[in-house]
Amino acid sequence: MFPHEIDVRPIDYLEQLGSIFARFDTQDSGNVSYGIQVGDNRYFIKTAGDPADPDPYLDFDGRVALLRNAVDLAGTVDHPALPALHAVIDSPAGPLLVYDWRDGELLGDRGGPDSAHDRFRALPVADILAVLDTLYGLHADLDAEGWVEGDFYDGAMLYDFPRRRLTVMDLDSYRRGPHRNDMGRMFGSTRFMAPEQFSLCAPIDSRTTAYVMARAALVLLADTTLDRPAFRGSDRHYAVLQEATTTRFPTYATFHQAWLAASR
Ligand SMILES: Nc1ncnc2c1ncn2[C@@H]1O[C@H](COP(=O)(O)OP(=O)(O)O)[C@@H](O)[C@H]1O
Ligand SMILES: [Mg+2]
Repeated sequence: MFPHEIDVRPIDYLEQLGSIFARFDTQDSGNVSYGIQVGDNRYFIKTAGDPADPDPYLDFDGRVALLRNAVDLAGTVDHPALPALHAVIDSPAGPLLVYDWRDGELLGDRGGPDSAHDRFRALPVADILAVLDTLYGLHADLDAEGWVEGDFYDGAMLYDFPRRRLTVMDLDSYRRGPHRNDMGRMFGSTRFMAPEQFSLCAPIDSRTTAYVMARAALVLLADTTLDRPAFRGSDRHYAVLQEATTTRFPTYATFHQAWLAASR
């Protein structure tokens, strides 16, 4: 039902395709995305935005390259936490990525007790552990395909509270294979980032993924620090997170195995 290519602007195509009920254009990525209803189906359609937009950190070619990277990622890993990528449509303004629409609230939304972030952190420990299990299982699949974390933070997690379902999106900056930090301070939220992501030429690899995933647990199940009283999980879980963020695990797989063992 989706063409491989269109010769009009994405917005002109989308307006005749269905009814647009959401627009995301205020992120500093420079991307412009839409929620669209087509018959009984809802889709999330991501584009690289206006080719002439000079504001974003990444220029148009850079934004298109990240979207193509996201297409590669979607083609290698199929996981219930990832919205399915149905189609890629080429246009004069770069590709349109057609994903499933997922309901949920952004766990990165902070701002008081009513925020999704605070309401999530107030859930029973078992519910938060279930989300971490999903997140870590997804990263085991990504790691097995060679994908290394980049720019992951709680704003990449949508949580559907009534359905207790996690969706992980915006993994566009993950890179396949170990590489070196070519930016200095890389993209990302400081709360989540590993030391090597601040250091030009440092190796970025599956150890980095382990560190960032451990940080996710410290953000969601503690107060972002290693303060033991603030951590709501078990001593065994705490020990895994402490190791992951101090002496470090040699790979993501060893971190994940240790976490699973602590959960038994
Ligand atoms: N599959 C999806 N279903 C519903 N909403 C989504 C989906 N993917 C992303 N979003 C929403 O769109 C916003 C922008 O998408 P994102 O992939 O983060 O784009 P950007 O690269 O511009 O940061 C997200 O913050 C989230 O609120
Ligand atoms: Mg984003």
